[in-house]
Amino acid sequence: MAVEGRGKEAAVLSGNVPQTSLFLLPVSLSLEVSVGKAATIYAVNGTEILLPCTFSSCFGFENLRFWWSYNNTDTFKILIDGTVKNEKSNPKVKLKNDDRITLEGSTKEKVNNISILLKDVEFMDTGIYTCHVRNPKEYNLQHQAAIFLQVVDKLEEVDNTVTVIILAVVGGVIGLLVFILLLKKLITFILKKTREKKKECLVSSSGNDNTENGLPGSKAEDKPPTKV
Ligand SMILES: *[C@@H]1O[C@H](CO)[C@@H](O)[C@H](O)[C@H]1NC(C)=O
Ligand SMILES: *[C@@H]1O[C@H](CO)[C@@H](O)[C@H](O)[C@H]1NC(C)=O
Ligand SMILES: *[C@@H]1O[C@H](CO)[C@@H](O)[C@H](O)[C@H]1NC(C)=O
Repeated sequence: MAVEGRGKEAAVLSGNVPQTSLFLLPVSLSLEVSVGKAATIYAVNGTEILLPCTFSSCFGFENLRFWWSYNNTDTFKILIDGTVKNEKSNPKVKLKNDDRITLEGSTKEKVNNISILLKDVEFMDTGIYTCHVRNPKEYNLQHQAAIFLQVVDKLEEVDNTVTVIILAVVGGVIGLLVFILLLKKLITFILKKTREKKKECLVSSSGNDNTENGLPGSKAEDKPPTKV
């Protein structure tokens, strides 16, 4: 029985592509939270840093709750807590535990942006920042995404030396190839001109028999230069 069932399912899945994508749709359309691609962001002591977070849900949202939490090895705290009434309203902050934090995003544009800005970054701020979203419209479905903030005393300059060397080598090789191609063209051109001149000479200086003898000879001469 079980085997039979599986067989049927497999037939449906493999035989009907649109149907398989329908199966997957609810998964990708529901609430999603993102803090961007970088897993770690760096901030210099004393500066400010934007902690990015966006969310989306194709089912829409109502009285959505969002909050940012912070944790490191020995601390856990809620930094900011708020709600968004619906797609047409901006997020409202209900609670804030740090004066240095401001909500920067807005949900009025297409992106539901609930990023926060942390000012006067201190070394103590190093840790995991998690952006949580709960959507009552999706039976309180909750999602979160986390980003690691590393506070440093100066941003390490990305060592570009290797890149520069590679680019220089690649550039050099390309340049050389172009140069060789041009040189080849030039040589072919010169050879052609010389041959034409030779031909002219042969034509003008002697009879038809000689030119016919001369042609195969000049063809044989052709081949080595074109290999360059
Ligand atoms: C970090 O920044 C604070 C405030 O700007 C400053 O007092 C402190 O000396 C800085 N620490 C280091 C190690 O640069
Ligand atoms: C921070 O919180 C997350 C989720 O609650 C947990 O998995 C992680 O272990 C915590 N990290 C530290 C360093 O405590
Ligand atoms: C979110 O808002 C902040 C502040 O306005 C902005 O810098 C950031 O680019 C926005 N992010 C997205 C994905 O729109």
